[in-house]
Amino acid sequence: MRKPLIAANWKMYKTPKESLAFLNEFLPLVKDHTASEIAIFPTMSSLGYVIEATKGTNVTAGAQTMHWLNEGPYTGQTSPTMLESIDCTRVLLGHSERRIYAHETDDMVNLKLKAALDHDLIPVVCVGETLDKRQSGLTEAVLRWQIACALNGIKGASCGNVVIAYEPVWAIGTGSVATPEQANEAHAIIRREVATHLGLPCASGMRILYGGSVKPDNVASLMSQPEIDGALVGGASLQARSFAEIIHNSTTA
Ligand code: PGA
Repeated sequence: MRKPLIAANWKMYKTPKESLAFLNEFLPLVKDHTASEIAIFPTMSSLGYVIEATKGTNVTAGAQTMHWLNEGPYTGQTSPTMLESIDCTRVLLGHSERRIYAHETDDMVNLKLKAALDHDLIPVVCVGETLDKRQSGLTEAVLRWQIACALNGIKGASCGNVVIAYEPVWAIGTGSVATPEQANEAHAIIRREVATHLGLPCASGMRILYGGSVKPDNVASLMSQPEIDGALVGGASLQARSFAEIIHNSTTA
């Protein structure tokens, strides 16, 4: 059984004060929820505050990105050891906005994934095709390539905690959510590719989240698909009520 994971990607939104105000409202709304894991990925400036404020609750927090090295002359970067030092347990890797705006390559995502596993950070590796690639019939090729690169050199034995997020670039922040069938098909491609690299037991235990315009009213139909094990939510995670509603609706499928 794969326990669902519902995660909030706050991108470049919320000051520490706004993050704490969110938690004040949000934590009571989900305090009895045990059917899925809940995670929040706030900005780096809010991360330490969110980690402290969620200690002892059913919500955990993670970073939106990190470098793969422990230290060095890399202005603006945060290392895995620095995340560990503030009790951070999760990290998002290879989000398409990082790939597009920060020029993160597949090789960099691979280095980061290896570093996350070395540091016991639970990684959420994001993959997904652009509209152009989908319209050219290249969705499967793109997904298989991104997964193969991310998993290069990683052993099945160390994959226990790895989470993948399928986030079609054309669905992110656009309101154009993938249909449940489109998402399910993409997830099945991803799982098959994971199996060829890490073996079937690892692939069948791995959680694959869907991300891209997830809202309270579409999460149940997405979650009803057998290959969809959770959601990575951007815009609709910024309001406590809306994110709590997504969490509650995700288990009514
Ligand atoms: P969205 O973003 O829910 O606003 O489409 C999802 C994401 O980028 O993770």
